[in-house]
Amino acid sequence: MALMDKHKQVKRQRLDRICEGIRPPILNGPMHPRPLVALLDGRDCTVEMPILKDVATVAFCDAQSTQEIHEKVLNEAVAALLYHTITLSRDDLEKFKGLRVIVRIGSGFDNVDVKAAAELGIAVCNVPAASVEETADTSLCLILNLYRRVTWMHQALREGTRASSVEQIREVAGGAARIRGETLGIIGLGRVGQAVALRAKAFGFGVIFYDPYLPDGVERSLGLQRMATLQDLLIHSDCVSLHCSLNEHNHHLINDFTIKQMRQGAFLVNTSRGGLVDEKALAQALKEGRIRGAALDVHEAEPFSFSTGPLKDAPNLICTPHTAWYSEQASVEAREEAAREVRRAITGRIPDSLKNCVNKEYLMAASQWPSMETATVHPELNGATYRFPPGLIGVAAAGGLPGTGTGVDSLVTGTLAHGIAPVTHPPHAPSPGQPAKAEADRDIPSDQ
Ligand SMILES: NC(=O)c1ccc[n+]([C@@H]2O[C@H](COP(=O)([O-])OP(=O)(O)OC[C@H]3O[C@@H](n4cnc5c(N)ncnc54)[C@H](O)[C@@H]3O)[C@@H](O)[C@H]2O)c1
Repeated sequence: MALMDKHKQVKRQRLDRICEGIRPPILNGPMHPRPLVALLDGRDCTVEMPILKDVATVAFCDAQSTQEIHEKVLNEAVAALLYHTITLSRDDLEKFKGLRVIVRIGSGFDNVDVKAAAELGIAVCNVPAASVEETADTSLCLILNLYRRVTWMHQALREGTRASSVEQIREVAGGAARIRGETLGIIGLGRVGQAVALRAKAFGFGVIFYDPYLPDGVERSLGLQRMATLQDLLIHSDCVSLHCSLNEHNHHLINDFTIKQMRQGAFLVNTSRGGLVDEKALAQALKEGRIRGAALDVHEAEPFSFSTGPLKDAPNLICTPHTAWYSEQASVEAREEAAREVRRAITGRIPDSLKNCVNKEYLMAASQWPSMETATVHPELNGATYRFPPGLIGVAAAGGLPGTGTGVDSLVTGTLAHGIAPVTHPPHAPSPGQPAKAEADRDIPSDQ
């Protein structure tokens, strides 16, 4: 008998341990009819709404920091959608009391502390595929611009330069170079890096790459030359193009020291993340001509302005405002896919039902995650979009909230006519290991 009790106790303890640090499933059904999904840094939910309206209420915050997010969202949102223009550090994440899933509408997720999220029981997902081609095309566009100087020739014409004689043409086109036979060095051969490599080959580049995280053989599949070290890549490249994700190990990967390892007069392109390049060092190298030209879509501080920051007087520089990812099609695709991921989280199991969970490993390690039971969705639910601005609440969607007239009154008084699943904040799971100090302290740039 005593043995039986002991067994029961052990079993109970195990269950307690398993449940520790896990947030409960997103509750749905008649008792908890409408989980709250919040778009944090945008205001247009027209693409997301049709995908989510029967399972959730969608709110938008249009915030640039969590200070701007209404308390109701912080307390009640179970899912958050976000672009790259808001950062969620550990402190920010802790403000959300019932959050279960974060979905980045885009591929980069360096603006979210994914380890901290896992330790808080929050799954983080991204949409990795939607903008691969756009980003690769933009990268090539920038690379070609550096070689063929289209941007600068256009600018010269705009400024009134006339190029009628061959001498004048030579002058205005000075620096334009042949591509065939040049070596393009790709740092980070992931989805975008590979797409850039394939395109660059068609233009006549010899393509080499450095990516220590990829298994042997990728170079053979793609017919590229692999460099064993970053230094090798920098020494052998006429143009270096950055396509690695930003993480705690590669902040300022391109700095004064590594720039000195580059070929004299090489080009630098970055469509990846601003934090990879020390802009002060780059500005100096451009001024001294050690780097012949640079093209940057991403910057250390965004939104980028030519009138401030270390790059303001740098010559031979082309900048675009973090738009490499954008096309109407890619944008809609990313939003649809992000909404579908949220839907999977609400109607399925976290993390098992998620397609692109980027912190699954940490999540499992942090909480010994058991499978969550599928939540039942109430078939009669309709959605509505509303916004929680700081200190003020208003309805944005036409028609207001179901069953509440316009919905404004009930929201302003803070009493949602339809309940949002009450989600409690369980104790945090023990950390699988303290995050590196550099990461914990890192001021993650808010970029796409
Ligand atoms: N500018 C934009 O609009 C835009 C659009 C899409 C993606 N991006 C960015 O482009 C980057 C690449 O995106 P992706 O979808 O190809 O990502 P990905 O995850 O498919 O590929 C990233 C690759 O970088 C490698 N890597 C990581 N650290 C490295 C390091 N220190 N040195 C060398 N390689 C390293 C990884 O092994 C991986 O293969 C990401 O940072 C993403 O955020 C920017």
